[in-house]
Amino acid sequence: MIALGIEGTAWNLSIGVVDENRVILVEDRPYIPKEGGIHPREASQHHAEVIGELIRSVFSKIPPQKIDLVAFSQGPGLGPCLRIVATAARALSLKLNIPLIGVNHCHAHVEIGRWMCGVSDPVVLYVSGGNSQIISKKGGRYRVFGETLDIGIGNALDKLARYMGLQHPGGPKIEKLAKNGRKYLKLPYVVKGMDFSFSGLVTASQKLYDRGERKEDIAYSFQETAFSMLAEVSERAMAYLEKDDLLLVGGVGANKRLKEMLKIMCEDREGNFYAPPTEFMGDNGAMIAYTGLKLFLKGRETSIDESFVKPDYRIEEVEL
Ligand code: ATP
Ligand code: FE2
Repeated sequence: MIALGIEGTAWNLSIGVVDENRVILVEDRPYIPKEGGIHPREASQHHAEVIGELIRSVFSKIPPQKIDLVAFSQGPGLGPCLRIVATAARALSLKLNIPLIGVNHCHAHVEIGRWMCGVSDPVVLYVSGGNSQIISKKGGRYRVFGETLDIGIGNALDKLARYMGLQHPGGPKIEKLAKNGRKYLKLPYVVKGMDFSFSGLVTASQKLYDRGERKEDIAYSFQETAFSMLAEVSERAMAYLEKDDLLLVGGVGANKRLKEMLKIMCEDREGNFYAPPTEFMGDNGAMIAYTGLKLFLKGRETSIDESFVKPDYRIEEVEL
């Protein structure tokens, strides 16, 4: 069976095509803001302008008659962007006369990670722009055991980078700067049980920049502090849930230092650390296609009436 998935909750408009065994193709049309962060209306205008061309390009590589199912990211995400994606998905489903299925974006990050790494029941650290959560399966659902009390780690990195004059997305630029950090500057470390917070860390780092500290040292100190917090809560979740596997997913999962710290933590407790290839860490259409296919094979389908967007859709709401 072949599924086409459309992702477009925020910055990346992407279509993926998969079958049960492999990713057949992924094509991206990212929105890159000229300055500042992601503006919801501008991002949705971008998606609306390029979606037709993107679909045509995909269909030039795989004929539409071969597609059995269309999946789309139903939420969470930016409302105006979600509406473009849902409209395109509905149109394809009606035109090709194939089933439609709405997918939770966070669920899709988890499922593609599990698929690519071949891990069945891990603790998942999901770190992206908008989200930072510790997730694991219990009682037929994914549940969030801990999460950020304010902004996601990716947004925190992007915000700090912007403050230091670097262009969006800031995560990779902070990673690069941090490699040349020499001095650890003390920053607030905020963990409460399995929850954590980043906004105070951003403000404190901005103050260091105003005080004239080197960008490299700030980037290094920020990463060490924030990633230690994430490693601590991941370890606590593994201990409480008595699970030995940790899976890292989401765009910030591309960060090598974060992976290194989590790997050391897992090895220290004789557990296993997993991370999918970088191209499947950030938002991509394949994760939506794959999750949609899995749900469909379990008997799930979304009617046109149920295909409204869900900007605040939480992973706990998904029945597995
Ligand atoms: P979500 O809706 O799941 O929150 P998203 O829209 O934030 O997703 P993702 O592609 O999952 O999209 O994540 C993007 C984030 O990842 C950005 O904040 C970006 O700065 C960050 N990022 C990308 N590469 C790196 C890296 N190497 N190190 C740190 N952060 C990174
Ligand atoms: Fe994402």
